[in-house]
Amino acid sequence: MKAAILNKKNSPLEITEIPIPEIGADEVLVKIMYAGVNPLDNMIVREEVKLITPYKYPLVMGNEFSGVVEKVGSNVSGFSEGDRVFARMPLDKIGTFAEYAAISRDAISKVPDYLSFEEAACVPLTALTAVQSFELMDVKEGESIFISGGTGSLGAMAIPIAKSLGLHIITSGSERNRQRVMDRGVSEFIDYKTQDYSEILSDVDYVLDTLGESELEKEFKILKPGGSLVSLRGLPNHEFAKRMGLSSVKKLLFKFAGLKFDKMAAKKNQKYYFLFVESNGKQLEKVSRIFEEKKIKPSVDTVFELSDVNKALDKVDKGGSKGKTLIKIGE
Ligand SMILES: NC(=O)c1ccc[n+]([C@@H]2O[C@H](COP(=O)([O-])OP(=O)(O)OC[C@H]3O[C@@H](n4cnc5c(N)ncnc54)[C@H](OP(=O)(O)O)[C@@H]3O)[C@@H](O)[C@H]2O)c1
Repeated sequence: MKAAILNKKNSPLEITEIPIPEIGADEVLVKIMYAGVNPLDNMIVREEVKLITPYKYPLVMGNEFSGVVEKVGSNVSGFSEGDRVFARMPLDKIGTFAEYAAISRDAISKVPDYLSFEEAACVPLTALTAVQSFELMDVKEGESIFISGGTGSLGAMAIPIAKSLGLHIITSGSERNRQRVMDRGVSEFIDYKTQDYSEILSDVDYVLDTLGESELEKEFKILKPGGSLVSLRGLPNHEFAKRMGLSSVKKLLFKFAGLKFDKMAAKKNQKYYFLFVESNGKQLEKVSRIFEEKKIKPSVDTVFELSDVNKALDKVDKGGSKGKTLIKIGE
């Protein structure tokens, strides 16, 4: 099969012929139709997530997909040949920029009927990020959340899911994207190029941060005393290392890395969480039910061929997208 391979740090991916993966008893073989491209893929190329999830070369790249079950392992129940499925790949076994992938049945979910393969590939990684963030913060109906940079592909999933949970949503982005996110259920929009959210907002119940270190101080300032903040871009802390079951060395390392933000949070009895999204078929089923009920339509920006995978990565790196960047693989 054809696969896009990373052979070393900071190098372009190479399209190579490799064998179709063998499946284990608890896995299914999926024929990939579309793969989603995320900022995470560029971070893997630059080895920026090496401490959280180390990869060996050569590495088949790609973290999420939509596709069709081609074969099921002997222990697998609930899925059969021909099922339309989607998933975020498990951290220790990525590889969706390829014609086939072997994946644990615990990571996959069936695609809602109303979604095309193209639309479905936009969902798993960012929708799971949103669900996992909301579970960490234990969000409650009627409370308020500030999602920074909600005009991006994370916001495209986090906003409708937050809406379905009954949250009051405030987000920031460029003016040209205001209407698109307002239509998805945002109550208040802040144009970050002309307005400072830290002068407008206060006592927000939750913050979902997509911008990282440079914004965290301001984001804690708008959070109510006792409120919770999940960062997707900040630094991991001790709580993260414990939750992920990382080694004692990494626990110590991340304790120091995240100390500054734990201290910021402690001042007003707030909580600081760092999240690195994991695969989870059960949570994805929950997402599918929400999507099926609300008929949420993901928006696609550009679709590239597998041979143009490096152009797709560049596009995501440059930002300013109007939806998901995808790679079309199967017919
Ligand atoms: N840790 C995890 O597990 C995890 C999971 C998913 C995503 N993430 C991270 O979350 C971030 C967002 O992901 P994404 O897929 O949504 O990226 P994306 O599609 O590139 O979107 C980023 C958005 O941020 C907005 N933005 C840029 N600068 C801003 C600022 N100063 N204030 C407010 N908004 C600003 C942009 O808005 P305009 O285009 O409107 O200007 C853009 O829509 C990335 O850094 C990604 O790595 C982490």
